[in-house]
Amino acid sequence: MDALTEPRSGTTTAALPAPVVLAWDLPTRLAKWALAVLVGLAFASKYYGDVGLVWHMWNGLAILILVVFRLLWGLVGGSTARFARFLASPGGALFYAVSVLRGRSPRYLGHNPLGGWMVLALLAIVAAQGVTGLFTTDDIIVDGPLVRVAGEGWIERASALHQDIYWWLLALIALHVLANLAYSLFGKDNLVLAMLTGRKPRAHYVDQAAATPGSIVLALACLAVAAVGVFGGIALAGGDPFP
Ligand code: HEM
Repeated sequence: MDALTEPRSGTTTAALPAPVVLAWDLPTRLAKWALAVLVGLAFASKYYGDVGLVWHMWNGLAILILVVFRLLWGLVGGSTARFARFLASPGGALFYAVSVLRGRSPRYLGHNPLGGWMVLALLAIVAAQGVTGLFTTDDIIVDGPLVRVAGEGWIERASALHQDIYWWLLALIALHVLANLAYSLFGKDNLVLAMLTGRKPRAHYVDQAAATPGSIVLALACLAVAAVGVFGGIALAGGDPFP
């Protein structure tokens, strides 16, 4: 506890502990909501008048950059964003699921063991959607940036996967949103508000008492590395990184 929050003995005006603590730092929140908006826009641009799918492709590249950013941020970012801090073993996740069903689940400041696996699944499926998009063609006017360097068999598979994964992605997003809303409305914590404000009520959390934010400079460096990695990777593979 610091000087501002420590109640001082012998004084009548002792400061009370701050009622809220940091749960999610700014880069984690910005990346999460930007990903949600971009995934929504990717769907919209595919179905509403984006002739030539230029916007859709820029959108897809931005999603890939964000996913790479989030992976890097999971190594060097704020304490609740780090994979090592929130990825539980399958047994641990099962144990947590049972405790939820019994109504005796412990409180987590960051992702709970089930939420941690959901995050990984979301990132993986969004990445799969983005990567297959690089190889997708409609055989008429639109080619993904790596279509010209890939074999016909893989292009056919990737184009089909890009359509199919979409439904899995929608299902996972629906599950993610429902779980978060249910937890926020009926559970002990308002997760949606916490992901918006970055704060949670001060309480007894089993993982961390308060999050340590990641460095903003490091976040910008991760974003730059992610952008160079995505555009540079496409160029190195012989594709055209700019749609
Ligand atoms: C396209 C849709 C979405 C995608 C791809 C997505 C993806 C993600 C990802 C990757 C995270 C992990 C954040 C991190 O640790 O960096 C996350 C967390 C979270 N998302 Fe979403 N999200 C989407 C939509 C939504 C919506 C609409 C809501 C609001 C109802 C929402 C509420 C949350 C909350 C509350 C968390 C924190 C969960 C926790 O504490 O375990 N998400 N989301």
